Amino acid sequence: MKAEDYSQCRVLIVDDEAINVDILVSALQQDYNLSIALNGQSALFHAKSHPLDLILLDVAMPGMDGYEVCSRLKSDVATSSIPVVFVSAMGSLGDKTKGLGLGAVDFITKPYQLVELKARIRTHLRMQQAMKSLVKRNRSLDRCVREHTRELRETQVEIIYRLSRAVEYRDTETAMHVKRLSHFCRVLAFSLGCDEETCELLHLASPMHDIGKIGIPDRILLKNGPLDDEERTIMQSHTIKGAEILSGHDSALITAARVIALTHHERWDGSGYPRGLSRDEIPLYGRIVSVCDVFDALTSLRPYKKGWPVDEAVDEIRACSGSHFDPQIVEAFDKALPEVVEIMDNLHDEPHQGNSFPNPGFAVSA
Ligand SMILES: [Fe+2]
Ligand SMILES: [Fe+2]
Repeated sequence: MKAEDYSQCRVLIVDDEAINVDILVSALQQDYNLSIALNGQSALFHAKSHPLDLILLDVAMPGMDGYEVCSRLKSDVATSSIPVVFVSAMGSLGDKTKGLGLGAVDFITKPYQLVELKARIRTHLRMQQAMKSLVKRNRSLDRCVREHTRELRETQVEIIYRLSRAVEYRDTETAMHVKRLSHFCRVLAFSLGCDEETCELLHLASPMHDIGKIGIPDRILLKNGPLDDEERTIMQSHTIKGAEILSGHDSALITAARVIALTHHERWDGSGYPRGLSRDEIPLYGRIVSVCDVFDALTSLRPYKKGWPVDEAVDEIRACSGSHFDPQIVEAFDKALPEVVEIMDNLHDEPHQGNSFPNPGFAVSA
């Protein structure tokens, strides 16, 4: 529709008096697409079954009066946005207050001057058209934003997986480890009763748990034999290095990843590292990732060991409840086992592509 062309606008005239209808029709038929209803019921029926841009509504009609029609139009989501203009001989302050209070945009009293009537109708149609194009534009912007957000999220997830995979390449773990772990974390958090946002955050942040290993020298990370005390201390520093890599940015995702990197080797009884935190001192994210990380390490095939059967790995997790792991999380893990097994079935290990001289000393604890 061109800027000032309203000939396609659909205007419904509602009036029980033929003479009034005739006056409006002859005044407006050149300019708009008109339809007519001679009572309230057929006005409502017409408004529900035809698209309309404006309703000119009489007040005094037999049966359902104009006020009732207006109030029904406004309370129905299908018709509430159609502007209603009362055109009536009843023009007292009380009438106008009632009509406008019911949601009408205007109240024109008879007798009216045609020039004024036309100008006011034109103004309301102009506003209605502007509103419609605004709604349309908002919808398309909304779609655009949602699409971009989805793309951004997908890219974010992909970058996280690839970055985490780069770290795992240097280690004995497989690319699928981080994927399984992140899915385990989500279902475990859900089983614990965490909200959707927390579950999603854990899902996204947990793959970065071992990112600090990038700062561990090959001679230690890849050592084919037990580590001495000094080497073990350096190896354990992957937690602090990870937290350092992830420091300096306070987005929820990076903050969660930092907490996980730093605390995923803490133990419930305080015997973990790097800080020897115990019980609730260990952030929830760290406690959750700890269970999932160990479970996946136990059940995974590594170059130096077979994967444990699920029931044996679960027994081991249960046996460590209250020492290594938070008992409540072990309980939630038990409940989430069907989903955990499903994730394992869907995310098999690819043939191992990491280093070929792994250090078996970290099969479970890394
Ligand atoms: Fe891991
Ligand atoms: Fe680790």
